[in-house]
Amino acid sequence: MKLTDALRGEHAVIYQLFDHVRETIAGSDDIQDIRNAVAVMERILLSHAQIEERLLFPNLEPHLGQMGPLEVMRAEHRGIDELFDAAKQATDVGALKSVIGELLDLAHDHFAKEEHALFAMAQQFLDETELTALGDEWAASRKVALQDGGCMGC
Ligand SMILES: [Fe+2]
Ligand SMILES: [Fe+2]
Repeated sequence: MKLTDALRGEHAVIYQLFDHVRETIAGSDDIQDIRNAVAVMERILLSHAQIEERLLFPNLEPHLGQMGPLEVMRAEHRGIDELFDAAKQATDVGALKSVIGELLDLAHDHFAKEEHALFAMAQQFLDETELTALGDEWAASRKVALQDGGCMGC
């Protein structure tokens, strides 16, 4: 599997998490409920951004340079981290909801940019062999089996 397909798959699942957090914010004024949902989102988004910064961005740098789209994507990752920090500082539920609303909008926009621009550039500049080798590294990091390694029930 190509790395770009794996990352698109991660986005698909994280969109469900964004919906869950949005629904939690809309349906609860319990600050702890909201903090719990946000803590799960923080862990998953951080892990997703780390895997992009480790496997994808450095391999695009020779083609795109450090500036331009990669700088924008890295800056947005930092922006998302800063909003998680701001959420931890929020002491009332209204302020927390407002920070998380901003975070969800930024993260959603960021995902769309990656899907429409960055992953498309990756597919243009990296060939299928490179993207598949990176997909294997992704699978090892995520502990996902890509090959049929055994026979169940035979
Ligand atoms: Fe990203
Ligand atoms: Fe992403």
